[in-house]
Amino acid sequence: MHDLKEKKIELEDIPGVGPKLADKLREMGFSDPMSIAVASPSELASILEIGEVTATKIINKTRDMLEIGFTSADKVWEQRQKIGKITTGSKALDDLLGGGVETQAITEAYGAFGSGKTQIGFQLSLNVQLPPEKGGLNGNCLFIDTEATFRPDRVLQMAKSMGLDPDKALKNIYVARAYDSDHEIFLIDKAGEMIKEKNIRLVIIDSLTSHFRADYVGRGELAPRQQKLNKLLHNLQRLADSQNVAIFVTNQVLTNPAILFGDPTMPIGGHVLAHQSTYRVYLRKSSGEKRIARMMDSPNLPPGECVFKITPDGIRDV
Ligand code: GTP
Ligand code: MG
Repeated sequence: MHDLKEKKIELEDIPGVGPKLADKLREMGFSDPMSIAVASPSELASILEIGEVTATKIINKTRDMLEIGFTSADKVWEQRQKIGKITTGSKALDDLLGGGVETQAITEAYGAFGSGKTQIGFQLSLNVQLPPEKGGLNGNCLFIDTEATFRPDRVLQMAKSMGLDPDKALKNIYVARAYDSDHEIFLIDKAGEMIKEKNIRLVIIDSLTSHFRADYVGRGELAPRQQKLNKLLHNLQRLADSQNVAIFVTNQVLTNPAILFGDPTMPIGGHVLAHQSTYRVYLRKSSGEKRIARMMDSPNLPPGECVFKITPDGIRDV
């Protein structure tokens, strides 16, 4: 992990980056030197239309300027101390997640339709606005909606039950509709700038994968789809780390009873997502309002299950 304490350095200050390249970088979502420092040479080379050797030099110079390299354990510790957690509204689900949805991490919720992925997203978009003592981060939410399923009326209903000022609560959620996978990539590139400007502490992408599934159909397109998803997730992780924000993504799985062999509940995006998301939670329906969440993947938490419910007020304990 890098020491992310940033010095006040502008893109133009980096040797080899003039005003012209700096503009181009900003345009592509590289808003600060840290984003250059953690970029890959090939990524930077293709964006700036320069050679990889030059790109590597720029990255190394940036790292020197930011004094990134090996980081002493106390600095890593310091960075981890900054991790914030957002309550889901259910203590049981928070416990499963190790205290809530974390900053500096990607949390992926996957499950069939109606399993509660979007409802958890709505709840988090409000809960992040709470003060820390109530399980929030005093921050705002950026909600990238790829399925046109964002429902302000439902969010309003949840906000009222929490005693939040409904107008203010909705104003603090910045919703962007993504029309296809390229647009989704573009919006995430743009997110970097917005995060600082609007005090964003949570980025939600609901769903991360639906456009990719629609835009890359057929066997031959599997590899390019995974490549794009992989890159997108890298960018998301970079955002999470450098801006200390929480990333919550959803991923629908097909529970097709016609599939007799193999796992019918494989998430779309398969293993690429599996390796990138820090926390992966599998959601499934139980009776009535009840839902079951299972921790499938985490760097530091035991596997386990919990039950929560989706009530008119929002996500709650059973
Ligand atoms: P897909 O996006 O279709 O993959 O599903 P999802 O996992 O996002 O499901 P979602 O979060 O939309 O959950 C849908 C379920 O939440 C419904 O089946 C309802 O049980 C519950 N729900 C949705 N809206 C409301 C509401 O306004 N009030 C209450 N009480 N429950 C709701
Ligand atoms: Mg949904």
